[in-house]
Amino acid sequence: MPTVLITGASRGIGLEFAKQYADDGWKVIATCRDPGGANELKGLAGKVEVHALDITDRGQIQALAKSLKRENIDILINNAGIYGPKPALLGGINYGAWEEVMRTDAMSPLKVSECFLDHIARGKMKKIIAISSKMGSISDNSSGGSYIYRSSKAALNAVMKSLSIDLKERGVVVALLHPGWVKTDMGGPGALIDSRESVSKMRDVIAGLGPEQSGGFFGFDGERISW
Ligand SMILES: NC(=O)c1ccc[n+]([C@@H]2O[C@H](COP(=O)([O-])OP(=O)(O)OC[C@H]3O[C@@H](n4cnc5c(N)ncnc54)[C@H](OP(=O)(O)O)[C@@H]3O)[C@@H](O)[C@H]2O)c1
Repeated sequence: MPTVLITGASRGIGLEFAKQYADDGWKVIATCRDPGGANELKGLAGKVEVHALDITDRGQIQALAKSLKRENIDILINNAGIYGPKPALLGGINYGAWEEVMRTDAMSPLKVSECFLDHIARGKMKKIIAISSKMGSISDNSSGGSYIYRSSKAALNAVMKSLSIDLKERGVVVALLHPGWVKTDMGGPGALIDSRESVSKMRDVIAGLGPEQSGGFFGFDGERISW
């Protein structure tokens, strides 16, 4: 039975990843900041383990990786993320909040990946996924604004591209996925697709990833997105 580790599994896209992999018979190591309040996650059927993890707490990441040192992880999904204050417009930027978004969206996925690298390298599939956003594509930016979120996801893309190169020799595939505009707390009710559709399509993309795709940035439909 394959094993997936998911960050930010309390709600939204992360919760849906946990549900779908569990429904498919996978072992799911679901992490979230507050397991006590994650009732939907704890109520999922299947082989789901819930662990506390705030991805900005480097000590907590290290401790969890150590406590799970016997696990072989097939796929790590770096899903947890924040948008930061809205709107982030010129003249009204909250620089303190920007630091928090950079720490969460760009720096922490690397720390999680570093700490769980041995677990992933022992897994059969050896895949590290980071949930990015088209908002992080510089070539796709035609509307400006959103300085904080755009820069955090552009930085995540740069980080994961380097990771893909550095892990090539270990046979670990690294990819960035844009989930679409999804109806979650972050995406809002006016978004275009629900998390069930987004996650089911991203799971197909993830399943199809091989070494040739490592370091790529893909939409939930599998199309490449330009940087
Ligand atoms: N929804 C969209 O349209 C959309 C589009 C493009 C990209 N994305 C990306 O998709 C990912 C999931 O987004 P979503 O729409 O599901 O957002 P969401 O509904 O706001 O959920 C965000 C999840 O991330 C968790 N999280 C935030 N900061 C964390 C931290 N420091 N440590 C651990 N967990 C943390 C939250 O946990 P708590 O419950 O503890 O707050 C929650 O589980 C994000 O990376 C987001 O940027 C979403």
